[in-house]
Amino acid sequence: MKIVTIVGARPQFIKAAVVSRKLWEFCEETIIHTGQHYDYNMSDIFFEELEIPKPNYNLGISGGTHGKMTGEMLIKIEEVLLQEQPNMVLVYGDTNSTMAGALAAVKLNIPICHVEAGARLGTLSNPEEVNRITTDHVSSLLACCTESAINFLRKEGKTRNVYLVGDPMYDAFLFYGEKVGDNQQESLVDLNGLEVELPTEYYYMTCHRQENAGSDEVLLEILDAANSLEAPCVYPVHPRNQARVARLINKYDFKNVITCKPVGYLMSVYLTLHCKKVITDSGGLQREAFFAGKQCVTVFDYVVWPETMVDNRNQLARPDKKDILDKLSAIQHVRESMTPFGDGDSATKIAKLILDYCSQ
Ligand code: UD1
Ligand code: UDP
Repeated sequence: MKIVTIVGARPQFIKAAVVSRKLWEFCEETIIHTGQHYDYNMSDIFFEELEIPKPNYNLGISGGTHGKMTGEMLIKIEEVLLQEQPNMVLVYGDTNSTMAGALAAVKLNIPICHVEAGARLGTLSNPEEVNRITTDHVSSLLACCTESAINFLRKEGKTRNVYLVGDPMYDAFLFYGEKVGDNQQESLVDLNGLEVELPTEYYYMTCHRQENAGSDEVLLEILDAANSLEAPCVYPVHPRNQARVARLINKYDFKNVITCKPVGYLMSVYLTLHCKKVITDSGGLQREAFFAGKQCVTVFDYVVWPETMVDNRNQLARPDKKDILDKLSAIQHVRESMTPFGDGDSATKIAKLILDYCSQ
């Protein structure tokens, strides 16, 4: 049995790291890396740290408009699929690599398994929402992280081959979190390439969405909030925003914000486990804050993972200094015992679904 796994962006490498391991028990896997994320600390570091085999194909496609990037991926992925003739294509999440992989496969009548199916914001103005909906509706196997995802699919009339498997990000967090423990993984490297010290007490922030980091005005509010916290705020910055962030930090002399280059997954888990609270617009990091029992403020207009919102463990804030600070100080109580994201065995469940489907 042959499976082609298609990845391209940071969060997909993490999910594939746990699922691929289970697939190797019964099938041959070919990995296509679209090239969407390509800097060492956005791509290679994940393959090295998480011991994912080197991709069989790296298509080298990145940047440009969403349409151009997706179109180029579609053309090249189709060529590889024609050559490889897999039994199934496996895609993760909601990036342009996900949708391009799914479209290439469905046009060749190759069944698709979509991991993280059914997540919805409720607006097509978010580029990832288009990718989620399109991918779900052309996939044969829909592996959902949570009950709410199942319900979203049901509302869209998708009930066949929809399975609750839990969240492979939770599997990864448990597995690698144990390895990381209290051992700091690496030092931080600032945006000029110099080493910076990690303070003993800090907030952990990531902010890269087009909606937040795409304009000076909006980003300034978020940076200003981070600068006003009573402890330093560690902010690994996505490459797309580094120039804007550095300019604003210098202009306004935001000394409380410790910017650095993106960190590897193990360091990100370390920062999550040891920070005071998390501020983010990342779908993955808001779940990891929940897994770690850390309070989180998500700077975004839409709820992506409603399960994390219980007991105000995760609160939405507008990109507004006062709202972010109010929400950060309002959340105090965290209950530890819920596992709405499964039991940490979702990779095993996904692999079994694929095996059963392909053996029919
Ligand atoms: C993508 C995903 C988003 C995810 C995010 C981070 C889509 C539509 N969105 O957005 O869901 O949260 O990844 O995981 O796919 N760049 C570099 N080096 C890199 C990668 C990117 O310099 O290694 C720059 C390029 O100039 C590129 C820009 O960042 O044009 C944006 O990257 P892109 O992959 O288009 O989108 P992300 O913001 O990363
Ligand atoms: N992450 C990382 N290094 C960083 C920032 C984030 O390894 O510098 C990890 C984070 O722990 C989470 C994942 O990247 O596991 C989230 O990916 P991202 O925010 O890029 O995408 P999203 O989850 O929003 O799709």
